[in-house]
Amino acid sequence: MDDQVLVAYATKYGATKAIAEEIGRILRQAGLLTDVLPVDKVSNLSPYRAVVLGSAVYIGHWRKEAVNFLQANEKALAERQVWLFSSGPAGEGDAIELLQGWRFPEAQQPIADRIRPRDVTVFHGDLDMNKLNFLEKTMVKNIKSPTGDFRDWDAIASWAQAIASELLEKV
Ligand SMILES: Cc1cc2nc3c(=O)[nH]c(=O)nc-3n(C[C@H](O)[C@H](O)[C@H](O)COP(=O)(O)O)c2cc1C
Repeated sequence: MDDQVLVAYATKYGATKAIAEEIGRILRQAGLLTDVLPVDKVSNLSPYRAVVLGSAVYIGHWRKEAVNFLQANEKALAERQVWLFSSGPAGEGDAIELLQGWRFPEAQQPIADRIRPRDVTVFHGDLDMNKLNFLEKTMVKNIKSPTGDFRDWDAIASWAQAIASELLEKV
């Protein structure tokens, strides 16, 4: 196991990629050697001692490539320090309250329990109607979800800063 940090993300429309890049920027600024990669481009976890993994949420599920990554790398992840985040809710107010307490996809909870992540969080997302396909637009209209970019860059930065502090303590 080497000393680098991996920020891996799964996105459909780019909102989660930008969150991952911001986390990566803060970790690098703190002096940590950090790669930011789409989760399906990660082939080997051996260079990394810590992994931050995030996915966009669609109908309560993580993106398939993030689920595949969790399943395929469970053992390696369990040996590393791991942080998990979801990007999803649109609207003002606490992200987890907007999701009525949802924090992580139920189907992958057993894997998360075995990996024992340092933290699992949810960040507000960016719901851009112009990017959605017809079916997605219809779903968003049906549930009368607020639309727009609700990403909370301060919350993202302070979470990333806490990760950096924890990792730097252990060097
Ligand atoms: C059809 C549809 C379903 C969604 N379902 C959820 C959901 O269940 N929970 C949630 O928090 N966000 C949900 N969202 C919001 C997206 O997760 C949010 O827009 C996210 O930031 C998109 O990330 P991406 O651009 O990286 O794909 C949904 C969005 C769409 C279009």
